[in-house]
Amino acid sequence: MIYQIYPRSFADANDDGIGDLRGITGRLDYLRWLGVDALWLNPITPSPNADWGYDVSDYCAVHPDFGTLDDFDELITQTTRRGLRVLLDLVPNHTSDRHPWFEDARSGRRARHRDYYLWADPARDGGPPNNWLSLFGGAAWTLDEASGQYYMHSFLASQPDLNWWNDDVRTAFDDILRFWLDRGIAGFRVDVAAGMIKDRDLRDNPPAAAADHGVVRALGQRQEFNMNRPEVHEVLRRWRALTDRYDGDPVLLGEAYVLDVEQLAAYYGDGRDELHLVFNFLLLHAELDAEELRAILADSEPLDRLEAWPAWVGSNHDAGRLATRWARGDPNRARCAHLLLLTLRGTPVLYYGDELGLPELPIPRETSVDRGRKATQEPGRDGARTPMRWSSGPHGDFTHAAAQPWLPVGDPAAGNVADQARDPSSILHLCRDLLALRRHYPDLHTGPLKLLEEGPSGVLAFRRGERFTLALNLSATPHTVTVPPGRIILSTHRDRDSERVSGSLALDGWSGALIDRQH
Ligand code: NOJ
Repeated sequence: MIYQIYPRSFADANDDGIGDLRGITGRLDYLRWLGVDALWLNPITPSPNADWGYDVSDYCAVHPDFGTLDDFDELITQTTRRGLRVLLDLVPNHTSDRHPWFEDARSGRRARHRDYYLWADPARDGGPPNNWLSLFGGAAWTLDEASGQYYMHSFLASQPDLNWWNDDVRTAFDDILRFWLDRGIAGFRVDVAAGMIKDRDLRDNPPAAAADHGVVRALGQRQEFNMNRPEVHEVLRRWRALTDRYDGDPVLLGEAYVLDVEQLAAYYGDGRDELHLVFNFLLLHAELDAEELRAILADSEPLDRLEAWPAWVGSNHDAGRLATRWARGDPNRARCAHLLLLTLRGTPVLYYGDELGLPELPIPRETSVDRGRKATQEPGRDGARTPMRWSSGPHGDFTHAAAQPWLPVGDPAAGNVADQARDPSSILHLCRDLLALRRHYPDLHTGPLKLLEEGPSGVLAFRRGERFTLALNLSATPHTVTVPPGRIILSTHRDRDSERVSGSLALDGWSGALIDRQH
C-alpha cells in the first residue's frame, strides 16, 4: 500500500505551523504500525507556492519550509531502516515562472533557455495562437508583452509548460531523476504524465460532444492536441530505461489523467517498458454505487492483457477526502469504501488521514489559499489538505500549541490517531487489519478478482483467488447475498468477525464482510 503524504499537513517538527520532513521522520513508527509499504510525498522542492509545490523553482533541493537535504537524507535512512520506501512527486509538465530557466527564457527571443518553453506568435487578430484552454480556467496562453509572443500553460499562468520536443529538456530531467534516485528514493509519482508533449503544429482542439463528461465537458473541448499525444510515450520509455538501471526496482507511478481503460493501459507500454503503475482514476469519478463500481471492475481486459498491475485511489489532495466525497459524511459508507479499496487487486493508494475517516473541512473562500483548479468553484481543494490529527490535544498535536497551523485542524476530538489506536473497533483498526490480511494471504494480494453473479441491486461481491469472497451492501436496504461457505475474517463494523457463513449472508444497509472459505 502506498500512503500519500501532503508534507505541509502531516507533522510539524519545528513549530512553525507547517509540516516538514523531520515531522514525517518522527512519525514513521506509526506508518509501520499501520502497515504502509511506501510513502508518496507531494512536492517537497522549492516553490513560490502558487500551486503549493506544483510550481517548482528548483528541482534539486528541498523547500526551506520542509527542511534541508540533510533532513531528506535522514528520512531515507530512517525509512530504509524500517523497510519503508519513499516516492517523490516529479513535476515535468511545467515549472514555476520563477524557475531560473523561465526567468532566462523570458529575457528575450534569443535567450539560452527560450526553447525550454512553448512560445508562439499571436494569431492574426493578436489573440492566443490557438483555442487551447488552461485546466485552471481561461486560455492556455499568456502574452509576454516584452517579446510579443505567447507562452503556453496548462495550469496557472505562473506555471509555464516545458517544451518536451527539446532534447535539452529531456537531458535536464534525466539529471533530475538521477539526483533523487542516487539519494535512495524508490521512485516517482509523475505529475501530468499524459500531458507533457503538445501537438507540434499547435492545432485547435475540437469541441466537446454531447456524451462527453468530466474535464472535457467542463472545458467544452476535447484536449486532443495538448494531452495524451502519442509522442509522450517516448519520454516515458526513456525514464523506464533510466530507472531500470538502478538497483532496488524503482517505481514510476503515473498521473495519466485518462478515464478510458484502453488509453490508460497504453501508459504501461508493452507491460515492461513504460510506467510500472498508472493511477486508475475511475473510482475517483464514481459514486459509491454497486452497479457503477461493478462496471469499472469488469472493464479490466486491456490491463489484464498486459498483466498490468493497477493502482487504485478513492481520494487525494485534488479530488477530496474519502469520508466526504465518497462516503458523504456517513461513517458506515466510509468503512465500506475502505473495505473495497483495500481488497482490490492492485496497489491501493491511501491519502493521509483517510484511515481516520477525517472529513473535508469547510474553508471559506475569503481564507482559501488554493489558487488552483477549484479556486473559482466551491469548495476549493484546501478542505482536503488540512493537518493530520495525532491526538485530541491542541491542534491535534500536529504542531506546537502556541503555533498557528497553516490550515485549520478542525476538532481533534472528532477523530485522531491516539484515540482510534486504542479502539479496536475504529476505522483506523479496520484499515490496519485489512492491510495485515493483504500482507499475510497471497490470495488477497495477487489473487485474481472475479466478480460474483449480479445479486440484489446495491450489492457488490467478488472473489479474490481461491480463498476469499468480499460482499458489500452499498445501499441502505438490508440484503441477503449468495456466497461460498466459510467464516468471516473481517466485517465492516467488526461485530461479525469470525461468524460462520453457509452459503448466504444477510447484510445490513451499508455493511460488508470478507469471507475466508478455509476457516
Ligand atoms: C496534478 C496535481 O495533483 C495538482 O495538485 C496540481 O495542481 C496539477 N497537477 C498541476 O501540477
